[in-house]
Amino acid sequence: MYVCLCKGITDRQIQAAVHDGAHSLGKLRKSLGVASQCGKCASLTRDILDETLQEI
Ligand code: FES
Repeated sequence: MYVCLCKGITDRQIQAAVHDGAHSLGKLRKSLGVASQCGKCASLTRDILDETLQEI
């Protein structure tokens, strides 16, 4: 599922980046570019980040 339409980033890409050590929204923004344009995806990205962190 696409989370960030501006950058074409999916929930799976976000999960993979979190597994690779991007443990904050800022780090995800740096590594993927998610939430770096309109910002509408920031809250969903944060939810996915929190969920993924609970799994690891
Ligand atoms: Fe992610 Fe616009 S949808 S920055």
